[in-house]
Amino acid sequence: MKQPIGVIDSGVGGLTVASELMRQLPKESIIYLGDTKRCPYGPRPKEEVIQYTMEMVHFLLGKNIKMLVIACNTATAYTLDLLKETLDIPVVGVIQPGARAAITQTRTDEVGVIGTEGTIASQQYPRTLKHIHTDLIVHDLACPAFVPLVEKGIVSGRDAYETVVSTLQPLKKYKNMDTLILGCTHYPMIRDLIQEVMGSTVTIISSGEETAREVSTILGYKKTLYVGNDAPVYQFYTTGDTAIFEMIASRWLEQKIEAVNKIHLTK
Ligand code: SIN
Repeated sequence: MKQPIGVIDSGVGGLTVASELMRQLPKESIIYLGDTKRCPYGPRPKEEVIQYTMEMVHFLLGKNIKMLVIACNTATAYTLDLLKETLDIPVVGVIQPGARAAITQTRTDEVGVIGTEGTIASQQYPRTLKHIHTDLIVHDLACPAFVPLVEKGIVSGRDAYETVVSTLQPLKKYKNMDTLILGCTHYPMIRDLIQEVMGSTVTIISSGEETAREVSTILGYKKTLYVGNDAPVYQFYTTGDTAIFEMIASRWLEQKIEAVNKIHLTK
């Protein structure tokens, strides 16, 4: 089926999921929408995140997508169940795939989760993890300083390093914690810094890979994978600055991303 997969995020973080989709499903077309202008979603009230997410979904439904990927943890935490119930296309979020990957990885059964204030306050990760593995010990931490850095394209250097060091300090005392979930799709863009601060004994989990696998499984099961020979079409939309979006997308997707479309969502 030639229809595109729709991917939404509060900004550029969902590109980390889009890049995995491109790698694992190279024939599939993708439409990406980042609500960069209203990013971050993390500190916003639940009702506002729901409304903004619905506006993005409405826009992509108008583009005839065959599946929706909520490539934003905060939006997943607040809207996944609602969207699964109300849309007649398959919907995938990023929390369950990240949780599954962490459980597969941990040997000590003690894992950490970092995310936005909204994601951590929602307690969706501990709930999902313990639903699968009741005895798991989970340490979570909100890292509100990370998304603004990434949205500005600051992913290395002294300022970024110092922010990561001071933010992650509370997790360093858990010596038995061997796995850390990046519970925000922006964080893979500063993964190297996070790994350096946490040390080599901690395995970093980013949900992109596992999410793309789930998308592939669902499309395969529903027989809606594209099997023709046309090249995939990638379209990018942002509500914010197109130049900075193009810069970050080109760097992260390792290809020149041009002609990013600026759109206006209501409110
Ligand atoms: C945010 O908008 O605050 C980050 C997005 C996410 O939670 O993945």
